[in-house]
Amino acid sequence: MKRTFWILASIAAVAAVRALRAQTPPPYRNPKLAVEQRVEDLLSRMTPQEKAEMLAGGGWMESRPNQRLGIPAIKMADGPMGVRNWAGSSAVTNARATKPVTSTAFPAGIAMASGWDPELAEREGRAIAQEVKALGRDMILGPTVNINRVPLWGRNFEGYGEDPYLAARMGVAYIRGVQAEGVIPSVKHFAANNQEFERHRIDEAVSARALHEIYFPAFRAAVQEAGVWAVMSAYNKLNGRWCAENAALLSDTLKKRWGFQGFVISDWGSTYSTAGTINAGMDLEMPGGEPMRAWMQRAETRQDGNGAGWLEADKVMAAIAAGEVRQAAVDDAVRRMLRVMFTAGLFDRPHVAGGEVDTPERQAVARTAATQGMVLLKNANGALPLDGDQIRSLAVIGPNAAVARNGGGGSSLVRSNYAVTPLAGIEERAAPQVKVRYALGVAMEGSQAGDAAARQTARDEAVALARQSDAAVVVAGYAPQLESEGFDRKSMDLPEGQDELIRAVAEANPRTVVVVVAGAPVTMTGWIDRVPAVLYAWYGGQEAGHAIGDLLFGAANPSGKLPVTFPKEWKDSPAYGHYPGEDLHVAYSEGIYVGYRGFDQRNVEPLFPFGHGLSYTTFEYSGLAITPARMEAGKTVTVTMKLRNTGSRAGAEVVQLYVHQTHASTDRPPKELKAFRRVALAAGESQTVKFTLGTDALSFYSEARQDWVAEPGRFEVLAGASSRDIRLQGAFELGR
Ligand code: BGC
Repeated sequence: MKRTFWILASIAAVAAVRALRAQTPPPYRNPKLAVEQRVEDLLSRMTPQEKAEMLAGGGWMESRPNQRLGIPAIKMADGPMGVRNWAGSSAVTNARATKPVTSTAFPAGIAMASGWDPELAEREGRAIAQEVKALGRDMILGPTVNINRVPLWGRNFEGYGEDPYLAARMGVAYIRGVQAEGVIPSVKHFAANNQEFERHRIDEAVSARALHEIYFPAFRAAVQEAGVWAVMSAYNKLNGRWCAENAALLSDTLKKRWGFQGFVISDWGSTYSTAGTINAGMDLEMPGGEPMRAWMQRAETRQDGNGAGWLEADKVMAAIAAGEVRQAAVDDAVRRMLRVMFTAGLFDRPHVAGGEVDTPERQAVARTAATQGMVLLKNANGALPLDGDQIRSLAVIGPNAAVARNGGGGSSLVRSNYAVTPLAGIEERAAPQVKVRYALGVAMEGSQAGDAAARQTARDEAVALARQSDAAVVVAGYAPQLESEGFDRKSMDLPEGQDELIRAVAEANPRTVVVVVAGAPVTMTGWIDRVPAVLYAWYGGQEAGHAIGDLLFGAANPSGKLPVTFPKEWKDSPAYGHYPGEDLHVAYSEGIYVGYRGFDQRNVEPLFPFGHGLSYTTFEYSGLAITPARMEAGKTVTVTMKLRNTGSRAGAEVVQLYVHQTHASTDRPPKELKAFRRVALAAGESQTVKFTLGTDALSFYSEARQDWVAEPGRFEVLAGASSRDIRLQGAFELGR
């Protein structure tokens, strides 16, 4: 009896211990353990099949979850200028959504870059990430850091302009902001995604030097400075291979050379093989599941050249069985994804939808960014700011005046709860002294413009209004149906009828100010000499109208500077003649001479140079000092100078520091941006501005050495208000 009792008691005890162990959460569930420990623990519990299942998405905007182990899906949202509306072409993102998802629309990347304010870009990143979380998502598909190589690229507005250093500063800041909120960014599109024309098939020949000096730096900085958690590969082929299966790019450069620890995600429908893609270093193929299959059934998808469905589990398992893919490669992909998921807190703090979007704080960030990002290109005879004491009536004219253009077209377009039109913003600032009246002038190309007689009437009305008013503002530019992801602009010119409208209005009223809403330069040669002032507004997000009103009336002082050269004509661009390629091949023959590097080298005068932007006040640069005069290899030099606001109102100046090596074993651009600072000064105030230049700022990429090289010799330092308005100059020696 006693014995039976003890036997039963021990059986019960063993069962209890087992039950307890079964209940004890496995180590990977313990948030107190180190990320790597959790990753390895979870990985060791996964079957090969389960691992293979993680390599392809589970839906349009989600990775595949694993119920048995409790691995959540990574829920994504398009960006980068805010969270993209889900009721558009990516309705599958959120099939149950009955109404469109709205969120704060921030200014386009090109406008952010025009603010030259990384601290603000970081705040923007944070604000966007907060909205991602509030909507129950985990990842934002941005920032876009591709270089503006060609003024016609349909996606120029998404990126940060033509200079690799500026793009790197902005991208790093945005990523830091996003990651600080525990949201996964995805810096895109790696690499050299610089045209929409044949974006799925085009094969680009780009030299190693141009890649490392121009097209890579923003990605490298994202990895090495911001420790970015995810990188999206590009659609195009680079030097013969699709980016998604380009080992030189993903494995050798990103992972081995730069030490990237996160995961690579494909662009949507950019894969064409199983073993080649995995072995090259692709970790997650998107999209996946049923939505991917349905999409790939569509004739247009195939016509476009998309490829997808190659990293589905059965294909991955078959490739392993055939010895084409090593299990270790699959493990590495899963490890990278898990690492990011643990780091971002996805296992411990799931994001739940239903949070607040479009808060006043985020609207304020959007407004500040829009205001800082607009660039005053021309201001003759103090035409701006408009003075309410002198002007009693104002004609506001043009196809972009009474509509808000949050952004260009495609996956980055945000649908906001509200958006302030330029007309509304101007009216708000003009009241009560100035009477504002509106006329369309010309319909946006591609919209219902009516017959020739109706068009003539619209133009005549606008001209008559301008004639009867004390001043006129023409709000011209592009629209998402004409400037978008998916196709390039057909020319650099303003859409149909707008040049003529500007000329006619300017003739009727000499106080005609032009505001351009667009994502890239437009040709202005037909009217630039006939108008006293031009404000480039870019796509400014939902607060753009307020920013335009504030800047035109002087409630805010313009401080934006161009992140891209404005050519007089498209044929002046260094990429002209090397775009869009022939027979699906394009050679980047201009090499490193992209943007101002090319204008400087060929001595071509731009309409407005890189870095240009006016203010309502003036700044004086003085006292450039460089110490030491001889820099030891591996050390730094300090550059100081004084900046003074010599005008009568507060303002901000972006001081730009360019470097030039006078003699080198290879050709070097006449100047390259290596530092900048946005400095806000009250009227009469001055400040010492200090920069540090290290070896990075002096190096070039040597194809022979396959590495960065800083050659000893003389370096000039040029401090300027633009790349063609150098105010101070000095030099130092780099020793051996
Ligand atoms: C774009 C990406 C975008 C993705 C998902 C692609 O067509 O190139 O930038 O994130 O779609 O919408």
